[in-house]
Amino acid sequence: MAKNKKTIRRKISMIELRTAWNECKHHWQKSWLEHKHLLQNKTCLDVGIWKGVLNAKARKYLNCNTIIGIEPYLSHVKMCQKLNPGIMLYNTVDDLPHEQKVDVILLQGIICLMLYWRDDLTQLFEKVKAKTLLVRHEDSYNYQCSGAKRETNIHNLKNFTHSPTHKQLIFFLAQHNYKLITKKEDNLHFEYENI
Ligand SMILES: C[S@@+](CC[C@H](N)C(=O)[O-])C[C@H]1O[C@@H](n2cnc3c(N)ncnc32)[C@H](O)[C@@H]1O
Repeated sequence: MAKNKKTIRRKISMIELRTAWNECKHHWQKSWLEHKHLLQNKTCLDVGIWKGVLNAKARKYLNCNTIIGIEPYLSHVKMCQKLNPGIMLYNTVDDLPHEQKVDVILLQGIICLMLYWRDDLTQLFEKVKAKTLLVRHEDSYNYQCSGAKRETNIHNLKNFTHSPTHKQLIFFLAQHNYKLITKKEDNLHFEYENI
């Protein structure tokens, strides 16, 4: 009986995993593999980590270890914790302790969900030191925010009118000493400049 229960539990999580992978796999090539040289054998902090599916894959195939994640939604947090054992998870940038250090900060599909993106990112850079910043962000959003699935957001957003353009974002990040190195469509790579 106990064995049956265990089998059922494992089977459900396999289905959950496959569903989650299908929802995010389109980002694996451009947002991760094409930055392999920046991610391999590195530690990361991921803001808006969702279920941590891509992070778990990166750990396996790139030895890229996401040690800190920020994710406000409990259902995503639960799966993320299971897929990334040992990860430290926080609900918001506010909750993140000071004096964190990683090789890479990931901001993938998250800046558009930050209503107060200037304040959130300023606070993030005060708390975390990282040489590399990898961003996935659309220049303009011509669709509404559903607030469902991967667009879950704490601000009950209905649209993306607050979201910065690439130009605004690059200017803002330069003020925080992050210099744009490469830009490939919506994937932008910045490096911290010691001034
Ligand atoms: C579009 S998904 C992107 C997931 C992942 N980064 C990727 O590239 O596949 C955005 C994630 O950010 C989370 N999120 C929303 N608002 C947030 C906030 N203010 N701070 C941190 N995460 C947030 C959402 O719950 C969701 O899991």
